[in-house]
Amino acid sequence: MAQERQLHLGAFMRPVSLHTGAWRYPGAYPDANFNFKHLKAFAQKLEAAKFDAFFMADHLAVLNMPVEALKRSQTVTSFEPFTLLSALAAVTERIGLVATASTTFDEPYHVARRFASLDHISDGRAGWNIVTTANPDAALNFGLDEHIEHGERYQRAREFYDVVTGLWDSFADDAFTRDVESGQFFDPARMHVLNHKGDELSVRGPLNIARPPQGWPVIVQAGQSEPGRQLAAETAEVVFCSPRDLLSAQALYADIKGRMAAVGRDPRHLKILPAAFIVVGSNVEEARAKRANLDSLVHYDSAIASLSIALGQDASGFDPDGPLPDIGETNASKTGRAQVLKLAQDEGLTVRQLAQRYGGYSGLAFVGTPETIADQMAEWLAERGSDGFNVVFPYLPQGLDDVVDQLVPELQRRGIFRRDYQGMTLREHLGLPRPVNSFFAGR
Ligand SMILES: Cc1cc2nc3c(=O)[nH]c(=O)nc-3n(C[C@H](O)[C@H](O)[C@H](O)COP(=O)(O)O)c2cc1C
Repeated sequence: MAQERQLHLGAFMRPVSLHTGAWRYPGAYPDANFNFKHLKAFAQKLEAAKFDAFFMADHLAVLNMPVEALKRSQTVTSFEPFTLLSALAAVTERIGLVATASTTFDEPYHVARRFASLDHISDGRAGWNIVTTANPDAALNFGLDEHIEHGERYQRAREFYDVVTGLWDSFADDAFTRDVESGQFFDPARMHVLNHKGDELSVRGPLNIARPPQGWPVIVQAGQSEPGRQLAAETAEVVFCSPRDLLSAQALYADIKGRMAAVGRDPRHLKILPAAFIVVGSNVEEARAKRANLDSLVHYDSAIASLSIALGQDASGFDPDGPLPDIGETNASKTGRAQVLKLAQDEGLTVRQLAQRYGGYSGLAFVGTPETIADQMAEWLAERGSDGFNVVFPYLPQGLDDVVDQLVPELQRRGIFRRDYQGMTLREHLGLPRPVNSFFAGR
């Protein structure tokens, strides 16, 4: 029987997987970043499984790591998300299509047009993942010598959101009368000129696109810092985040939903979806072995570079096959470092295994059978750690097939995931209201 609160599932897509070793996994499609045939098949399979959304992350520079590590990674290059999602919109009918766009390196008029277009093309399935872009190298690709300061990036992001949503409201939903008889295509009284002049942005408007079918495409936010959480509370309808355990997820969940209430928003109008790396096996040992095999495919050069970053100390001199030696305090993030030490201890990992975990995928992972994973997901939902998950597939296509063919039916049996879509738009899948036009209320 369907439970009152249901999981929402997004697919956190990197076409070959986010895991650095995945392109070397048996059966992988190492060319999937630029092979539309594979991406189409993934999207259609996720839609058949009734996923809420296909999320295409995006970066405006290659990853900022030494080329010796970079050359091992398949996530270095990928399609531009709007081109990809527009093509996917034509070969899918129901699944949401979420793209990342940066408020630091883009212009609000461009962003408003692109998402409005995608929303029209897909009949109301677009979502905008607002990021302020953490990678400092992106600045070098956009005419700057150095990155814009974190606080200023978030200030611009907040104003950027107001401008984009204001532009989407340029026309009332019924503005385009197209009256052949009188020869009037639209009613000028139903058009609003934004005339925005703020601290960071100056945009006249109106947008040269009819209001999107969803009113506004779904607003997603992926920043975790103090200003990131505040931006989420004020604007977001979905939060992508990366807590590592239920306790920290609950704290983040309560914090963001609490901030929403403080700014007068209904906390039910925001879905918090942590990224979860999911490895399914026919028993727990098999699932762990699959993960260990995958991790072992991370080349030691990039693995040890990632571990050194996490520890804040060069680890290249450590014995790869021994335990992590005792290390003193460093200048690295204390939480990050403590997490490394705890993981090494809890799982009894060698330096090599630990490095390969960090070089592969080190975030929240559910590794087990469909039943044990469904238990964990149900617990997170019930204990208010999340409203669902943004699923990271360990390797494709097999890892995606395992989730769709084995885990999803188990979630459906338990009544915590839909057996069919109830609506047509991404807003409807997520149970989010359609925003009222700020300039033409009620229409
Ligand atoms: C699930 C998830 C997805 C993300 N996707 C992107 C992305 O596509 N592009 C990007 O530049 N940053 C992405 N980020 C990074 C965030 O935008 C942000 O930079 C990071 O969480 C640090 O937060 P802060 O900037 O508030 O300190 C993502 C983060 C998470 C947790």
